[in-house]
Amino acid sequence: MSRRLVVTGGASGIGAAVVRTVVAEGGRAVALDLADPDGMAALEGVDFVRCDVTDAGGTQTALAEAAGLLGGLDAVYAAAGMLGTMAPVEHLTPEEWRDTLAVNLDGFFHTVRAAVPLMGAGGAIVGTSSVHGLRTFAAPGGVAYGVAKAGLVAFVQTAAVELARHGVRINAVAPGKVGGTRLLTANLGAHDLDDLEHERIADVPLAGETTTADVVAAVRFLLSDQARRITGTVLAVDAGQSLLGGGMLKARP
Ligand SMILES: NC(=O)c1ccc[n+]([C@@H]2O[C@H](COP(=O)([O-])OP(=O)(O)OC[C@H]3O[C@@H](n4cnc5c(N)ncnc54)[C@H](O)[C@@H]3O)[C@@H](O)[C@H]2O)c1
Repeated sequence: MSRRLVVTGGASGIGAAVVRTVVAEGGRAVALDLADPDGMAALEGVDFVRCDVTDAGGTQTALAEAAGLLGGLDAVYAAAGMLGTMAPVEHLTPEEWRDTLAVNLDGFFHTVRAAVPLMGAGGAIVGTSSVHGLRTFAAPGGVAYGVAKAGLVAFVQTAAVELARHGVRINAVAPGKVGGTRLLTANLGAHDLDDLEHERIADVPLAGETTTADVVAAVRFLLSDQARRITGTVLAVDAGQSLLGGGMLKARP
């Protein structure tokens, strides 16, 4: 995949799967995360640096430490994210809105701005959007998450043009529901979502389940030299879900 990789949100789920794949292939990866690593510390070749991506300065320090451990930086996979508070728009507080944007969107900005100066000879960055940032806005109460993930797509497209002069490619993956991942922490208790009637109008076109391995394969490709002419793209790993819309909110009679 790449020789010197940093993964934010690398302590669990998709991020940890990417770290494990790189290490299994003999590469070096440093996992950055707010939380303790999920048994990864035991894996040879994996270093862990604690990092809260909502903190711009802290992210810069953590990326610099990681690059020091790796002897440079060629690639970044930004997986740090959370579902955040799911609530009807009129009940979502400004603080809840801000928290979701802070992790999913500000965190990506902080990561990219810290990584680019460390990528002396160019490099590749992959962010993590979602079907909820494409054409599938079917998560009731998920306006903050959807905006953050759609914002990440616009970030990647805008930054790709700008970062080309540094030889840095930037792309995103947009997974659908990934089986086997732990439920992203959502503050479902604080708000009543019953009011938002949700009607599924379509399932995913391809039968079966999307797994972390499917997302890892997409990240792996976008970070590799095979994608050397690819920048500013979003690769949906959603079995076609975003083409169908996936669901809709019913108008109340
Ligand atoms: N699992 C899915 O079905 C799915 C679908 C679409 C998109 N995604 C996106 O994929 C990414 C990874 O999701 P996952 O399913 O592996 O979830 P996960 O909860 O297992 O992993 C997310 C990681 O991010 C870390 N994190 C959260 N806030 C952080 C912060 N402020 N600073 C640093 N690290 C922080 C968490 O500690 C965790 O280790 C997320 O961005 C998520 O939005 C997931």
